[in-house]
Amino acid sequence: MGADPLADELREALGPEHVLVDRDVVAGYETDWTGRWTGTARFVVRPGSTSEVSRVMAACGERGVPVVVQGGNTGLVGGSVPRPGSSWREAAVVLSALRLSELGEVDAGAMQVTAGSGVTLAAWRGHARHADLDTPVDFASRDSATVGGAIATNAGGSRVVRFGTMRSQVAGIEAVLADGSVIGSLAGLPKETVGLHWPSVLAGSEGTLGVITAARLRLAPWFRQVATAMVATADIDAAVSLLARLRGELTCLDSIEIVLPEALELVAAHLSATPPVSGGGAYVLVECADHRDPVDELVAVLDGSDEVLDSAMSTDGPGRNRLIQFRDRITESIAASGVPLKLDVAVPPAALGELVHAARRTVDGVGGRLIAFGHLAEGNMHLNVLEPGNIGRITESVLATASRLGGTISAEHGIGLAKTPWLHLARSSAELSAAAAVRSALDPRGILNPGVLAPL
Ligand code: LAC
Ligand code: ZN
Repeated sequence: MGADPLADELREALGPEHVLVDRDVVAGYETDWTGRWTGTARFVVRPGSTSEVSRVMAACGERGVPVVVQGGNTGLVGGSVPRPGSSWREAAVVLSALRLSELGEVDAGAMQVTAGSGVTLAAWRGHARHADLDTPVDFASRDSATVGGAIATNAGGSRVVRFGTMRSQVAGIEAVLADGSVIGSLAGLPKETVGLHWPSVLAGSEGTLGVITAARLRLAPWFRQVATAMVATADIDAAVSLLARLRGELTCLDSIEIVLPEALELVAAHLSATPPVSGGGAYVLVECADHRDPVDELVAVLDGSDEVLDSAMSTDGPGRNRLIQFRDRITESIAASGVPLKLDVAVPPAALGELVHAARRTVDGVGGRLIAFGHLAEGNMHLNVLEPGNIGRITESVLATASRLGGTISAEHGIGLAKTPWLHLARSSAELSAAAAVRSALDPRGILNPGVLAPL
């Protein structure tokens, strides 16, 4: 690599140790967690403050150099690694947010805390619990995934049924635009109506409108009494009718996840553990959490449900973890089996059976192994295909089916590079033009995450 004046300028601004040019080191930021998405970075910068992010953006903006923002690099759709195929001079600078890891003091009255965008979900949770509160969002990659990445993808996870997605947790936001200017507020006012709401604009924007540097995040009560049950049901339709019953009758429903038999078998083999329930056509993992012991309430509802073929329950930490691992560690067990095709889609829950049936037919036709699991209340299935026979055909068919059934092509992982060609299945051409107009107004040179959320 020849001299790079941009790298020199940023070394000056950030300190030489925070501009990574060594190819072996840079390689760690070029490939995503799945191994499916990989590209070339010009170099990696690790700003440690909002003003340093601002200097990075001003320097890149002035030269028209693309910037890809990366948090914990747990993305699954190619939204936070550089694009493949560029030479290093045309390649994007990867802006790692991991040093933006400051956590402010918890405001227990407001039930809010300010977090840098590089704070991990696990650190956010640990900090909240230290103040006897909890985070309203949680998912399996919590130890690496960051608050900024979760906002940028509008991530969901297991507690959405109770608290909503990441978007609903952002009471305030701070971000740096493509020209280095800083927008937003971290005041976290619960009531304010002064035109555009920046948290809403930036949630789900996947690094295309600005670099999120910090957020004012909502917290939830810490419900220490938790009951977890794993339930076998006859099929997906039975799981959906159990969902209606649990939502209608439980006051403390905290999560309700679905695991199909192939996924349960795979994770069980990976863990060398025997699942606590068997014989089902679909498995449901349900959690109730409250300040009072929720066991009796959960038992009463499950006992009165014809849909329950078999169930196992636990209330203590180790016992609950034994049940939860059959859901939480599925993604890990898939990764251990190969590089999967990952299709995160959602449909109205009543259409889940038809969605999975159609996906199975397609995969059986072209070859592959369908591993399906997800978030039942949101009709959100993670359709993973191992050894996919024809990636294009499977993707096209699954996304078109989700759309036809009144659903969406991405529920919580984002669009990234992976799903950009199918945006027309989820948005009208008028909507895509309006989104493009907003994007080019904020980033006229198109340097923020090019190719993501809109074709180049
Ligand atoms: C999960 C991730 C893959 O639900 O979204 O485990
Ligand atoms: Zn998920």
